[in-house]
Order: sequence, then C-alpha cells, then structure tokens
Amino acid sequence: MNKLVLITGATRNVGYAMAEKFASQNYDVIITSRSAEDAQAAAAALQEKYPQVKIHPMEMQLSSMEHICECFRRIAREHGHLDALVVNAAHLAINTNIMNVTPEDYDRIMTPNLKGNFFLCQKATELMGEGGAVLFISSVHANQCIPNRILYSMTKAAINALCRSMAVELGHKGIRANAIDAGAIWTERWIGLSDEEIARRRKPYPAGRESKPEEIAEGAYFLCSDAARTITGTELVIDSGVSTTLLTYDANWHKNAGGPAGQEPPRAPRGTGK
Ligand SMILES: NC(=O)c1ccc[n+]([C@@H]2O[C@H](COP(=O)([O-])OP(=O)(O)OC[C@H]3O[C@@H](n4cnc5c(N)ncnc54)[C@H](OP(=O)(O)O)[C@@H]3O)[C@@H](O)[C@H]2O)c1
Repeated sequence: MNKLVLITGATRNVGYAMAEKFASQNYDVIITSRSAEDAQAAAAALQEKYPQVKIHPMEMQLSSMEHICECFRRIAREHGHLDALVVNAAHLAINTNIMNVTPEDYDRIMTPNLKGNFFLCQKATELMGEGGAVLFISSVHANQCIPNRILYSMTKAAINALCRSMAVELGHKGIRANAIDAGAIWTERWIGLSDEEIARRRKPYPAGRESKPEEIAEGAYFLCSDAARTITGTELVIDSGVSTTLLTYDANWHKNAGGPAGQEPPRAPRGTGK
C-alpha cells in the first residue's frame, strides 16, 4: 500500500510542487483547496503525469472547523490512515498593519491560518495514530519582519510554536513535526514582473535569487521521509541566506500603504504551478 500525504492548498505554486514531489516518490496524495473545481483540475493534471499513484482532490474550508472534521471523517472512511500532513495553505495577509486591521479582518485572516490549522493538525494526527510526519510551510517572517505583513508574521511565528509543541506532545506516538522557514519563492505572482523589479527583489539574497517551488518541495519531502526519522521540532531554513543579513528598512513604508487589509492577490490561470 502506498503512503498517503495530505497537502493543503496544493492546486498551484509551492503546494502543487510538493504534491508532484510526493507523487514522484510513490505517495498517494490528497490535494485540498477551498474550491472543489480547482482541486479536481490540479488532481487530474497530476494523475495523468503519475498514473502509478492515486491523486485525490478534496474541497476543504479551513475557516470551518465543522468542514475540517467532515473531511477527516471522509478520509478515515475512504483511506483509514494518513502518513503525512503538509500544512501549506495560508491567507497571505498582504497589506495588514497594526493601524489598519479591523476585528473582522483579524478573524477572516487568522481563523484559517491559526484555528483552522490547529484543528487540521489535531484531526490529522488522530488519524495517523502511531507514526507519521507533519510539516509546516512557514516563513522567514516568523522571525524577521517587514512592514505591512503583521498578521502574516504572527501566523508564521504561531505555526512554528505549534510545530515545536506538537513535536514535544506527539513524540511518544512516533509522530514528528517540522517546519520550513522559506524566504521568497518564485510563484505565479512573479509572472509579468519587470526585470528591474525582479532584480530589486533578488538584491538582498546572498545566493542571488529566490527559491523555486521545486526546491522547497525537496526539503518538504526530506523532512517527511524516513531519512529524517530523528528530526523533529525543528525549522529548516530555505531562504538563499536572506535571514542572515540585515534587511534595509524603509522608514516611509506607510506612505505607500493603502487599500483594504488582507486583499487576496490576483490569480494566474490554474495549473500553471511553477
Ligand atoms: N511565495 C512565497 O514567497 C513564500 C515565502 C515563504 C513562505 N511561503 C509560504 O508557502 C506556502 C505556499 O505559498 P504560495 O506562495 O505557494 O501561496 P499561494 O499559492 O498563494 O497559497 C497557497 C494556497 O493557500 C490557499 N489559501 C489562500 N488563502 C486562503 C484562505 N483564506 N483560507 C484557506 N486557504 C487559503 C489557496 O488555496 P485555494 O485557493 O485552492 O484554497 C492557495 O492556493 C504558504 O504557507 C506561504 O505562506 C510562501
């Protein structure tokens, strides 16, 4: 029987690249999305490429605890087990700062990012039983902050604390928990950026560029695999060295900040993935 991994928000970008890596290593993969249609399209594309494994699409609403429970009842019924969980989906909390976030913005952004992910982990590790791996896709912004991403930094710092606590609490059951603190990653949001803008973004990175989704996926697979069987409660930094340097600070950042808090970025057509 193949091992089974569930990856949240895996229809594009980093999530899709991780789904592809696990599929290439003979894992069956559950791809979740808030959209059943997007999950089906991404799963169909991967299934065609990796016919030796099973790719299962699943709509999952991380803002609804009842829906998370319903998804896990279904996974238990249909598969009876889960070997690995990758906590990837996140509200990116763009344009959130200490001055503009309302209580409604806070709940809309932090409910999936914290409460949803907490109960996702609870349900997933219940199903793992005696042995499994949990991986959080975190960020250098858990520690190093930039203006106007306050709820993102809070999310990632909390996720890393959740990771360490789970490692401590679930070690006796053979369940490991780790995180990847990623620096910038090339995603569909980079499509159409000017050469000057790309050069500006790459400038603070000692290794000269952002990571590719596939490079994050390599680390993700390693941490979930048996090769990492004694690695738990840790953060693997994959950031081209950016967190080793002092970033420049823009004292005028607030003069350019505007627009609604937490607006989601525009999307490229689905399935571009990389
Ligand atoms: N891109 C980077 O530079 C970078 C750097 C460091 C860390 N990371 C982390 O890496 C992970 C993947 O990043 P990415 O750039 O590949 O992100 P992404 O594609 O924008 O987001 C991943 C998925 O999260 C889901 N999502 C977004 N908002 C959500 C919400 N409010 N509730 C539930 N799900 C939501 C979306 O899936 P559906 O729309 O299909 O539901 C989305 O496809 C994230 O945890 C991110 O914080 C990214």
